[in-house]
Amino acid sequence: MRKIAWLLTAVLFGCAAMAQAQEVIKLPEPKTSGGMPLMQALKERKSGRDFSSQKLPLTTLSSLLWAAWGINRPDGHRTAPSAQNKQEMDVYVAMSDGLYLYEAAQNQLRKILPDDIRAATGMQDYVKDAAADLIYVADLAKSGWKNPEDIEFYSGADTSFLAQNVYLFCASEGLSAVVRGSIRRPELAKLMKLRPDQKITLSQSVGFPKK
Ligand SMILES: Cc1cc2nc3c(=O)[nH]c(=O)nc-3n(C[C@H](O)[C@H](O)[C@H](O)COP(=O)(O)O)c2cc1C
Repeated sequence: MRKIAWLLTAVLFGCAAMAQAQEVIKLPEPKTSGGMPLMQALKERKSGRDFSSQKLPLTTLSSLLWAAWGINRPDGHRTAPSAQNKQEMDVYVAMSDGLYLYEAAQNQLRKILPDDIRAATGMQDYVKDAAADLIYVADLAKSGWKNPEDIEFYSGADTSFLAQNVYLFCASEGLSAVVRGSIRRPELAKLMKLRPDQKITLSQSVGFPKK
């Protein structure tokens, strides 16, 4: 009898853990038209470090992630280029209710952790206040690059295109954003449970500016 109760508890715990690991947020369709004219967005692009505590509406989050790294053509190509079209970048999103992975093909966020790890995504005080801290991660299993110079150069370059897309989207939407290189990478990678061949490149805080 005791054995059966133990087994049942283990199964229940296992199911709960699986349910949490598989939790996804289906994003609304991104808004892929309109916005500020490009030349004006370029005029207004800037780094802002003042964030209010206001959360990003899901439609804004969806459009932001689509701008960063969404699929914009039927053949699966993206809004940002990547070296040899390896598409090795992953965008993780740290918010108050957890850490998520953006899955562009399904237009969804997969919950990776239930914890608020925003403060650990950077070394400056404001990172814990931003509604979303994006963490750019190069997955070397996708790229296949082995040469350390290729890894550094291509993953760094590829990240920059995503980050600039986010800057321009934020300029257009009146959001505050700042890209950040100051990250305790080994600690953050451990917290995010990344594999050794997943490399954190940059992070970018996004949110509504303080009024
Ligand atoms: C690769 C890179 C790393 C950066 N790292 C940080 C950072 O860790 N913290 C920060 O507050 N700003 C960081 N910035 C933002 C720069 O400070 C900012 O772009 C610069 O001051 C120019 O301001 P602007 O973006 O408004 O033109 C970084 C920018 C780049 C391109």
